[in-house]
Amino acid sequence: MDAEVFHSLKNLTHGVAPLTDLFHADPVRSEWLTVDACGIHADFSRQRINKTLYEALLHAVDVADIQGSFKKMMAGDIMNVTEDRAVGHIALRAPATSSPMAQQASGQLERAKAVADGVRSGSVCGASGKQFATVINIGIGGSDLGPAMVTRALRRLANGPVVKFVSNIDAADLDEALHGAHPETTLFVISSKTFTTLETMHNAERARRWIQTNVPDWAHHFVAATSHTEAALNWGIKKEHCLEFFDWVGGRFSLSSVIGFPVMCAIGADQFSEFLAGMADMDSHLVTAPTEHNLPVVHALMWWMNSALHGFPTVAVIPYSHDLSRLPAYLQQLVMESNGKSVGVDGRSVLGGTSPVVWGEAGTNGQHAFFQMLHQGTHIVPVEFVTTASSLGTDYEAHDLLFANVIAQSEALAAGRTHGEPHKTFEGNRPSSVLVLDELNPRGLGSLIAMYEHSAVIQGWLMGVNSFDQWGVELGKVLAVDVASAIAGGSQPDTKTMTHPLLNWYISIRKKLPRNQ
Ligand code: F6P
Repeated sequence: MDAEVFHSLKNLTHGVAPLTDLFHADPVRSEWLTVDACGIHADFSRQRINKTLYEALLHAVDVADIQGSFKKMMAGDIMNVTEDRAVGHIALRAPATSSPMAQQASGQLERAKAVADGVRSGSVCGASGKQFATVINIGIGGSDLGPAMVTRALRRLANGPVVKFVSNIDAADLDEALHGAHPETTLFVISSKTFTTLETMHNAERARRWIQTNVPDWAHHFVAATSHTEAALNWGIKKEHCLEFFDWVGGRFSLSSVIGFPVMCAIGADQFSEFLAGMADMDSHLVTAPTEHNLPVVHALMWWMNSALHGFPTVAVIPYSHDLSRLPAYLQQLVMESNGKSVGVDGRSVLGGTSPVVWGEAGTNGQHAFFQMLHQGTHIVPVEFVTTASSLGTDYEAHDLLFANVIAQSEALAAGRTHGEPHKTFEGNRPSSVLVLDELNPRGLGSLIAMYEHSAVIQGWLMGVNSFDQWGVELGKVLAVDVASAIAGGSQPDTKTMTHPLLNWYISIRKKLPRNQ
């Protein structure tokens, strides 16, 4: 963002009165600070913003031509400049006829749906002809967090095999997934864009050995979701089980690609199509709605205002929906891997800082853990409450209580309470938003997730960073390979790194530890 515009916006935050005063002066401020779109009711009226700042932010977005940038993205322009790639995740759920990228994506999605339907009906089965009872996805980051979050969120619709997710290099993760599973009736999905990720490939090898103990014709038990089909074929995946996506889909934006295969196995291809339709609803809202009614745009402005202008370094996302409990973990990658950078596209440092720390936990559980700090701590943490209007089960009273807690917490944060005793005083003026989905169904969830995808990208554009690369994960990966080979070789390296005493200590005690138990 232009420095002059940034500083003038920042100056405007100094004129924002406390929330109680803002509400006193304008009791219906929620009328202009609420956006309804695609089955989501979003109330931003307890954010620290007045009309002057709001209008200036909307103007800044119009000048930056955010919608124009999305149209360029959809036309296949190179938006990921540091990797020289197009950014095509919106094409994954667009009509096949809308672009060559959409055409390519829809063909692969149809293949994935056919395999998933086969798994569910039994026509795609294990080597001994038995139907798959368990599907285990092995993947990490974008090849795990999205499908795991959606599978959990829509678990009430699950009517296929049991679907589990393994991501960690810690063997305990795969151990747990294998518990109760049988090789003859287990299908592994090796989900990896690159098909080289250390954790995934290590777990995949172990899964293959586990299948081979009972089933020599092991390849029937593996499917790959990858953009490196050649590598998957070389590993031994059958051609008809190689489901493909593309280098123009970033890992954290890949949920609507064949990476959704485990979700299809769990709830069926038709329900997954509904999820994609919800994403497409939000995509078309994004490029058609006027700025002040545009949910991803207004959402992004609130998050960016809080981190860059108000200087609040974290944001807590609290799903008041038990089934959405993996949402914060999914958003951590989406937002922090996209925007946790120090320099902009131009290589210069970014005004106002970049990604906030995203964290969170399901409500109401969080209330009995860290809400003390949210209400009275010395750090101000903007809170995003995410909930649903309708109840999922039949305990309607519980749902009313859940919703009542959202309202009560948001009110307490904003209004606070004066009291004679300091430790019973709540200073208030703590910002929060409330996002309410009509219902936690595939279509609504798709819209919510697409909103978060677009919001992360818009925040990145406001910061001036490239939201589509992730160079920051490389150094640790490279060093891990060197350290692992030093450990395997059992020799103490000559290089005196800052961690070499720890490495040497581990090499020496490892010799005394039991192996291969
Ligand atoms: O290390 C980060 C990362 O590259 C993510 O961007 C990605 O989602 C994850 O690793 C997994 O990568 P892959 O799908 O290639 O195994």
